[in-house]
Amino acid sequence: MGGWLEGDVALITGGGSGIGRAVALRYLAEGARVAVLDRDTGRPGDLPDGVLTVTGDVRSPEDLHRAVETTVERFGKLDILVPNAGIWDYHRSVTRLTGEELSDAFDELFGINVKGYLLAVEAAWRELAATRGSIVMTLSNASFHTDGGGSLYTASKHACLGLLRQLAYELAPKIRVNGVATGGMRTQLSGPESLGLHHRTLAASFARNEASGEAQPPLIPLYDSSVEPEDFTGPYVLLASRANSATVTGAVIPADGGIAVRGFRTAAGGTGL
Ligand SMILES: NC(=O)c1ccc[n+]([C@@H]2O[C@H](COP(=O)([O-])OP(=O)(O)OC[C@H]3O[C@@H](n4cnc5c(N)ncnc54)[C@H](O)[C@@H]3O)[C@@H](O)[C@H]2O)c1
Repeated sequence: MGGWLEGDVALITGGGSGIGRAVALRYLAEGARVAVLDRDTGRPGDLPDGVLTVTGDVRSPEDLHRAVETTVERFGKLDILVPNAGIWDYHRSVTRLTGEELSDAFDELFGINVKGYLLAVEAAWRELAATRGSIVMTLSNASFHTDGGGSLYTASKHACLGLLRQLAYELAPKIRVNGVATGGMRTQLSGPESLGLHHRTLAASFARNEASGEAQPPLIPLYDSSVEPEDFTGPYVLLASRANSATVTGAVIPADGGIAVRGFRTAAGGTGL
């Protein structure tokens, strides 16, 4: 039996690591052919041979157009775009930054997290319209809730939700636009170079929290669910699948352990259920 994406072609930004890489592997397993644009395609845990890798920066329209052109040259078309490359602000509060630092970090973080998504769509929409394809954006719990980062990251992920909704409107009826709002995952997510946070990784923060026993905030109902990126890939398959989501656009699937249904106490059921 074929996979849910048999014969489709996908391009994933930031697919060299983390959730982007996990989606690339899952899409391959579902029968798709996959291309990845990343500024760092030489990380450990490289992608399998069949994956087309393009080195580039999502802030560059030229790099994104080159990625789309190379993908179509190699695979003949484009069905799915996953705007995903991003950086985090490591919870930096406005109270801890100077105006100068904020200004530089804003430009860097919004350049990657927001402009990078919009430019990817600009580069790809013509090919997606030709195949009546779709876009599946990586959003975040920070697209809806506070404390998934500082003000820079939270604002950037809220902005991506706005992009998703407006683009779903602008690109209908030929292109569906949806998103997956993932919660915390063990990835190499790094911070702005302008704040000296570009060598930090979220995986290291997880390791520190685990060592100190603060790994999972108990207020998240599914606090004992996985934090490995491969366990977040299912909704990306569902939303990209024409057969299973043909009537779905402008939608976001939260994959965050149930942040929207948390209460005022620890998860009500507890481990005794
Ligand atoms: N890890 C989490 O807990 C979490 C939670 C919610 C949302 N997200 C989102 O998931 C997405 C992917 O992040 P991740 O956690 O997999 O981190 P990651 O660092 O493991 O992967 C991100 C990839 O994007 C690439 N990248 C960064 N800036 C780039 C640029 N300017 N041009 C091209 N490539 C660039 C990096 O090289 C890296 O390979 C981001 O949008 C992030 O905001 C992550």
